Amino acid sequence: MDIKDVVKQKYSEAALRVLEGGSSCCCGPKAPSGIAQTARMSQEIYAAADTAGVPTGAIVASLGCGDPTALAELKPGETVLDLGSGGGIDVFLSAKRVGPGGKVYGLDMTDEMLALARENQMKAGVENIEFLKGEIENIPLPDNSIDVVISNCVINLSIDKGRVLREAFRVLKPAGRFAVSDVVLCGEIPATLRNSPELWAGCVAGAMQEPKYKSELAAAGFVDVDIEPTMVFRAADVREFLSAAGAEAVSVADQADGKIMSAFVRATKPAIGGADSKKKRAISTIQILGTGCARCKDLTANVEKAVQGLGIEARVEKVTEITEIMKFQILMTPGLVIDGQVKAAGRIPPVEEIMQMLLAAGGN
Ligand SMILES: C[S@@+](CC[C@H](N)C(=O)[O-])C[C@H]1O[C@@H](n2cnc3c(N)ncnc32)[C@H](O)[C@@H]1O
Repeated sequence: MDIKDVVKQKYSEAALRVLEGGSSCCCGPKAPSGIAQTARMSQEIYAAADTAGVPTGAIVASLGCGDPTALAELKPGETVLDLGSGGGIDVFLSAKRVGPGGKVYGLDMTDEMLALARENQMKAGVENIEFLKGEIENIPLPDNSIDVVISNCVINLSIDKGRVLREAFRVLKPAGRFAVSDVVLCGEIPATLRNSPELWAGCVAGAMQEPKYKSELAAAGFVDVDIEPTMVFRAADVREFLSAAGAEAVSVADQADGKIMSAFVRATKPAIGGADSKKKRAISTIQILGTGCARCKDLTANVEKAVQGLGIEARVEKVTEITEIMKFQILMTPGLVIDGQVKAAGRIPPVEEIMQMLLAAGGN
């Protein structure tokens, strides 16, 4: 079974427990084997006033490690996406905050979690919510459609976190906020823990080191990246939540002392009209060098998506005359030139990289 299947199975079992009248319950010995041992009881995380009116089924199913809805400073009318929405607690909380003029999507890959979330929605009769089936690595929503991406103890579970962050960036509108609670590492943890599928599903083994999280966010195009620890786990806590992974894992708990934390992760997609867009206005021309081959068309498509993704206006010119192309002294086509500077030759940079090039070029 690959990691994704292990994760799906564990969270399916957790959802079924709640659907059958039990609790997903997230902490220590009560946890279904291998689940979210870093998660805390919902009453430790959420203010009682906030959860008033939220379906009980969503509260008991809570498997998060923080309250991203408090972090996100949601405003009435906003559109929110919760990555890995589980039983839906953060979706319901967000729906209260954005009000009837706003909309909240919950995205989850596990059928049983979606069934639980939809049952909770039906019982609560909340209309400004939609639960979507899908993977956070491939978000089934259009570019530039979301004001705030939230998530609670989920991104660490992904096997391709860079892709998740690029997808979050893609669906966010310019100036959109990324406001996530997650498990983050602040030191090397023993290989016994890193290699345990149980602990991957338990939100430990897959967690990123803090500097890596920051660099992945920046590589995806985010700015104003910040990681704020909300709880650092000491050896005693670690010993407790490692129990599901067996005696060997427990025996190395001391080596993980202070190296695993719950944290708020914040970032922003560059805005139009702010400092970044001043940079963008400085871009006069994007040129695609090539004689019209299929690869040139692919590059053109990526450039168009990047321009659209940043919401900027830029002139895109195709340079097809060989004598004109040669003036740029590139060895292979297609070539990408921004404001007279060759940025790529003989390859097709992905959309996110082109966005980075455009932002950087605008800063000159
Ligand atoms: C730790 S639970 C958190 C649930 C919820 N955010 C909360 O705070 O209660 C993780 C959830 O993420 C979902 N999940 C994990 N990996 C996913 C992926 N790659 N794509 C979509 N959903 C995923 C699981 O099905 C599960 O519902």
